[in-house]
Amino acid sequence: MNKAKRAAVIAGNWKMNKTPSETAALIEEMKPLVADADCGVVLCVPFVDLPAALDAAKGSNIKIGAQNCHFKESGAYTGEISAAMLCELGVEYVIIGHSERRTYFGETDETVNLRTRAVLDAGLTAIVCVGESLTQREQGVTAELVALQTKIALRDVPAEQLSRVIIAYEPVWAIGTGKTATAAQANEVNAVIRATVASLYGDAAAEALTVQYGGSMNAGNAAELLDQPDVDGGLIGGASLKAADFATIVRAASR
Ligand code: 13P
Repeated sequence: MNKAKRAAVIAGNWKMNKTPSETAALIEEMKPLVADADCGVVLCVPFVDLPAALDAAKGSNIKIGAQNCHFKESGAYTGEISAAMLCELGVEYVIIGHSERRTYFGETDETVNLRTRAVLDAGLTAIVCVGESLTQREQGVTAELVALQTKIALRDVPAEQLSRVIIAYEPVWAIGTGKTATAAQANEVNAVIRATVASLYGDAAAEALTVQYGGSMNAGNAAELLDQPDVDGGLIGGASLKAADFATIVRAASR
């Protein structure tokens, strides 16, 4: 299987932006612009915006995702949200292990693994984020680090659930900085991720895996990044808050 046969997915990560009414308005604006997309289109919105997002996206090709979820089914975890809660709402995707959660909220490779498994066990698709800091890139450990993060995230994930895993390579130094990885850098690390998955699940599973790039992807640079053989889509922050820019990226991924 080659890239042409893999599912390209463009996912917006709205982070902590937009109220429910703003969410509905932005999705209404986006719907006609992405209606003819030949790739998966996902918007990952704040928890409280999920009902508004699901309602606005109903009947369209836009799928809705959350930005995190807890790994326990229920219990005394004040402020947390379970995978079952998201599932019942109609959410289909959950971002796991975003670098902002690793940096600001104590997320570790181990909790990324637990959350990934909770998401998959609930029947949802996990968008698992991996990526190195600038220091780690300068230390020359990017490939090792990303392989390690990938391996731990997938620990005890059964092969039959792998089709509901997307891995997003997001170099921390490229997130929200305007500094994008070059197309060659993105492709090189995405290939490392695919090789790691191949070592765990075999070549066919790895070839079928959607591996996204994220980090200052925008309307201007998306086409070159998405053209790379191992870049199967994008996880888009800032540019996913602008309907026209997001639609341009979706068009670049459509083939
Ligand atoms: P930016 O596109 O704003 O750099 O954010 C990328 C990101 O973190 C997506 O998850």
